[in-house]
Amino acid sequence: MSTATRAAVLVESGRPAPYASSRPLEVMSLRLDPPGPGELLVRVGAAGLCHSDLSVIDGSRPRPLPMALGHEAAGEVVATGGGTEFAPGDHVVLAFVPACGHCPHCAGGRPALCEPGAEANGNGTLLGGGLRLTGADGGRPRHHLGVSAFSEHIVVSARSAVRVDPRLPFEIAALFGCAVLTGAGAAFHSARVAPGDSVAVFGLGGVGLAALIAAKAAGAATLIAVDVVGSKRALARELGATHAVAGGPDAVEAVREITRGGAEKVIDTTGVVAVLRQAYLATGRGGTTVTVGLPDPSRELALPALSLVAEERTLKGSYLGSCVPRRDVPRFVSMYRSGILPVDALLSHRLSLEEVNEGFDRLHTGEAVRQVIVF
Ligand SMILES: NC(=O)c1ccc[n+]([C@@H]2O[C@H](COP(=O)([O-])OP(=O)(O)OC[C@H]3O[C@@H](n4cnc5c(N)ncnc54)[C@H](O)[C@@H]3O)[C@@H](O)[C@H]2O)c1
Ligand SMILES: [Zn+2]
Ligand SMILES: [Zn+2]
Repeated sequence: MSTATRAAVLVESGRPAPYASSRPLEVMSLRLDPPGPGELLVRVGAAGLCHSDLSVIDGSRPRPLPMALGHEAAGEVVATGGGTEFAPGDHVVLAFVPACGHCPHCAGGRPALCEPGAEANGNGTLLGGGLRLTGADGGRPRHHLGVSAFSEHIVVSARSAVRVDPRLPFEIAALFGCAVLTGAGAAFHSARVAPGDSVAVFGLGGVGLAALIAAKAAGAATLIAVDVVGSKRALARELGATHAVAGGPDAVEAVREITRGGAEKVIDTTGVVAVLRQAYLATGRGGTTVTVGLPDPSRELALPALSLVAEERTLKGSYLGSCVPRRDVPRFVSMYRSGILPVDALLSHRLSLEEVNEGFDRLHTGEAVRQVIVF
């Protein structure tokens, strides 16, 4: 039997801000097919607004449309199509890369690089190729990153889901699916922040602040927070940043001065190529620059090439924080529970599904950190 749901569907990309007037996302009634084998029907409890959604809305990350947007969510399993280890009543966090478990990258312990997962995400289908939503006009919206989180109910591959402690409120649990996996993973796995390190984080949105609190937890001694928005720098200071620097070309010199020659680890979470270049230039001899930003695919990066060799520098991309969601979500949740990762601090606004366009205005202007739609 199909399920009725209301979901925010992106009908056209590239409409101008403010989105409260151009309304690129339409909240509509849809039918949801029952879950097939290896799939779950999930009642969404909460869904976060991420810049990766905004990049699909503004057209800098092209995706097939119409698409039921959203990819950061937590909810409760209502039914399964069999062949999974999940049962109705389980609480789950959804990761935005479904991992097949069999491709060379999954087999090699890097599920964030899953090939069938990337192909399904690029096509806007669930893992295995299916579409599960149908509109009143018979149209079939695509799925965003296997999740389509801005919906009361969703059908997902069980390979997108991680079971979590049901005592965790959905609005906090949701953040672990993207912001925390990506940001904390970038600090722990990709930058390998170690006790005593000097660390700079460029961009203090949901992902950047998650990287910052993880760098703190890993023992960063000098922790520099860089953003163009003053309120975000102030929040970062409350969360343990030792220095705050205003974003812009002068940030490079400021970081180099504080660290006497450049930080050992620099994490860029802005998605802006010019800022990634600044992050590289703010990194010291022997240091590592990690980027999680997803700029427009047409953009290229120019760097002083000699420094890579003569200064033994490392520049790394980090997708899904190089995490293994089934290992890392429970670990990060237990770090949250013990107070080591204060994830609540990322949550700046709670919205209804109908307020989704207004929420993206707040993300676009920089007024919000992480906003969650609470169902
Ligand atoms: N690699 C991954 O797996 C992954 C996962 C999630 C998000 N992302 C990407 O990470 C990026 C960040 O996502 P988010 O949701 O945290 O976005 P966000 O919009 O909440 O945060 C970006 C921050 O960068 C700041 N910024 C902009 N220009 C700056 C400058 N010149 N100097 C310093 N700071 C500046 C903004 O003020 C903002 O606080 C996006 O590109 C998103 O698509 C990647
Ligand atoms: Zn995201
Ligand atoms: Zn795989």
